[in-house]
Order: sequence, then structure tokens, then C-alpha cells
Amino acid sequence: MVEFALPGNSKVGKGKVWPKPKDATKTREFRIYRWNPDDRQNPHIDTYSVDLGDCGPMILDALIWIKNTVDPTLTFRRSCREGICGSCAMNIDGTNTLACTKATEDVSGAVNIYPLPHMKVVKDLVPDLTLFFAQHASVKPYLQTITPAPEKEWRQSPADRAKLDGLYECILCACCSTSCPSYWWNSDRYLGPAVLLQAYRWIVDSRDEAKGERLDQVEDPFRLYRCHTIMNCAKACPKGLNPAKAIAEIKNLMIDRQI
Ligand code: SF4
Ligand code: SF4
Ligand code: FES
Repeated sequence: MVEFALPGNSKVGKGKVWPKPKDATKTREFRIYRWNPDDRQNPHIDTYSVDLGDCGPMILDALIWIKNTVDPTLTFRRSCREGICGSCAMNIDGTNTLACTKATEDVSGAVNIYPLPHMKVVKDLVPDLTLFFAQHASVKPYLQTITPAPEKEWRQSPADRAKLDGLYECILCACCSTSCPSYWWNSDRYLGPAVLLQAYRWIVDSRDEAKGERLDQVEDPFRLYRCHTIMNCAKACPKGLNPAKAIAEIKNLMIDRQI
């Protein structure tokens, strides 16, 4: 019988338990994935006690508190701290989400934090999004037109503008793609929910004049049709978007243009 085993260096070990803050009246345990490519050690989980009376209410606040007061080597991405930039996406309490919009009090017990799953890790909680952003660039996420540019703006009726609702709000955090089993196994060829939602955002934009080319570009057994409507993506999206629906709409357009 074939036996499978994880490579030795993929095993996650126990890490350091950092001392509790003195004089804190309300603390919460944070167990955080750590991995440093420079020290040639296996990844490990460090345990920190966060003084909730001394930091803001969100998970990101706790991470910043740890970095500022306990362990400056803890590495993570963040920028806007209000759910706009997408950079603080990570796996918190078993779910991909944004650290800046997830409240610590919404997690019961110890807070377990890992990087977004099934991505290479740059360091600690920072995933390597090189492929993800290259895939985004591949769908040409900008207005393409043939007719000469108007003197003022490209106009759009309110009804056509409304077709972009539920799409334009995507912040490219990658929570959906990294929760999609099809993307886990085929990310080299399947575009994944985030990028397909972005592709659809331009396909349905009434001002865009490259709809045919856009459909041609995604029409592929892997690029588009690896979506099996498992719906993890819609569950994971911290902005409440539904990439699976956008993917289904692209598939409908593929059928329409064959009739
Ligand atoms: S619906 Fe499609 S894109 Fe969304 S998680 Fe499932 S397979 Fe992935
Ligand atoms: S669809 Fe939602 S989860 Fe996916 S990248 Fe956009 S904002 Fe993030
Ligand atoms: S820091 Fe920008 S989305 Fe969280």
C-alpha cells in the first residue's frame, strides 16, 4: 500500500510561550504561526498573551500590540486598517478574513492565526501573492475601448452602473481564492474566484468594448471551468460578495454566445 508523509520541514512545531503582561486585568491568548525563511527552522506556533485593556478591539490591533510591545519580529501586512486595502487578509479562527474588521471578542477562547492557506509563505503571516496578482493582470482589469475617447467622461446609465454592484467592491484580498479547493489544487491554471469576479466586472461594464476578447481569454477547461460551485468563496468573502455567482454568469454568457 502506498504511504504518504509530509516532508519533514512542513511540520509545524511548538514555539515560544511569551510571558504574560504585568498588571493586565483582561488578557487573551493568541497562537500565531511563525516561519522565517532565513533561520532554516520548521514553522512553529508562538503563544502571546495580549492585554485587551491596552489595545484596540480588532485582531489587527492585537497583532500591532504584540509587535509594538512584545515581539517586533512578528511579520504581517496591513495598511488601511478599515477593510479597504485587502492587505491584512489571514486565516483567523479557521476562516479567511481581514484582521482589521474581525473583532477579538467575536472569537471565543484562544485566537489561532495562520497565513492564508495553500499559498507559499514569505514570512510569518505574509503569503506570496505574486501568482494571484499576475492572474489578475492577465484579465486586463481596465477599460478597453475601440471608439475614440469622448471629450468628457465615458457615460453610463444608472441601470448599467447598477450591474457593477457586488463586483466593484472587491478589494483583492484573496480570502475567496485561498478558500477554494479548486484553486488550491490548480492555482497554476485555474484563475480562481477573485480573478474571475474581476474578469466579470469588466465583461459586464457597458462602457467596455472588449467583451468578446475577454470571454475568449477565460474560455478554457482550467481557467474558468475548474469552478465546481462549492461556494466556499462566497462564504469567505469579508465584503459579502459572491464570486461563485459571477463565475456562473460568465458560464451563462459562454452558452449565450454559442446560440
Ligand atoms: S464556487 Fe467555484 S470558485 Fe467558489 S469556492 Fe467553489 S469552486 Fe471555488
Ligand atoms: S471577492 Fe471578496 S474575498 Fe474575493 S478577493 Fe474580492 S473582496 Fe476578497
Ligand atoms: S488593513 Fe486594509 S483591509 Fe485590513
